[in-house]
Amino acid sequence: MSNKISKIYFSPTGNTKKSVDAMAAALESVCQDYDVTVEAAITQCVFTSEDFAIIGMPVYGGRIPKVAAVRLSRFKGNQTPCIIVVTYGNRHYDDALLELDDLAETQGFMVKGAAALIGRHTFGEIQTDRPDSNDLAADKEFARRAAENKNTKIHISGNRPYRDGGNGGSFRPLTSNTCTSCGLCAKDCPTHSIGEDFKTIDDHCISCFRCIRNCPVGAKNMNVESYLAFASDFSGKLKNRRENEYFL
Ligand SMILES: Cc1cc2nc3c(=O)[nH]c(=O)nc-3n(C[C@H](O)[C@H](O)[C@H](O)COP(=O)(O)O)c2cc1C
Repeated sequence: MSNKISKIYFSPTGNTKKSVDAMAAALESVCQDYDVTVEAAITQCVFTSEDFAIIGMPVYGGRIPKVAAVRLSRFKGNQTPCIIVVTYGNRHYDDALLELDDLAETQGFMVKGAAALIGRHTFGEIQTDRPDSNDLAADKEFARRAAENKNTKIHISGNRPYRDGGNGGSFRPLTSNTCTSCGLCAKDCPTHSIGEDFKTIDDHCISCFRCIRNCPVGAKNMNVESYLAFASDFSGKLKNRRENEYFL
């Protein structure tokens, strides 16, 4: 592909990034990376119709995380072709893909392909190996077809008005005494919710669990009975594998 590709993604625990990266790799072109997971990394950006974007977001409560939608509004297309991607944790994506389609169009992008993909759920132990190598191979094949797609009216599942969602969860990670105060959790927190003591977490926290997944010494945790009981029950309910959906 001759167009320059821009990857625009919000991906606290990395599932969305994996699929966006696979799709970009399949298109074999010069790539620009716009990781909007941590706000400081954002720049204002305007694209032309010669560019190509891959826009990826996770599903929070069946919607695009509100904080991510705000960050996407800083990117402006001009009839810029794009692929949109949502990843979700094997429950459902509800109205999130439709919402991302609307957001992309409002920002001046032209959606040539849309994907709703399974990734490991943030909570519990659900589809812990997803996206797997088969998922990523299918993502690549989809990206190649989407880039060539001439269809301008893609039908995407979802409803308007959208359901309520996108706010994040109410779980607040705890910090054990193995914490070395390295500060990685605070530096990489998508909502800058972790205080200078690296323990206090304010109400901007969206329960993305990035701090838990990335802590080098495993100090951040959710080892409380109320969460563990929820996570175990939730994992049981969502144990049946769902498949990715691709819209062209
Ligand atoms: C607050 C919150 C709400 C979520 N809501 C949903 C949901 O409605 N449906 C679902 O299947 N997964 C849901 N998930 C799981 C994420 O969508 C899934 O793990 C996603 O792949 C995370 O993307 P990332 O790894 O790029 O951050 C939710 C996760 C969080 C943290």
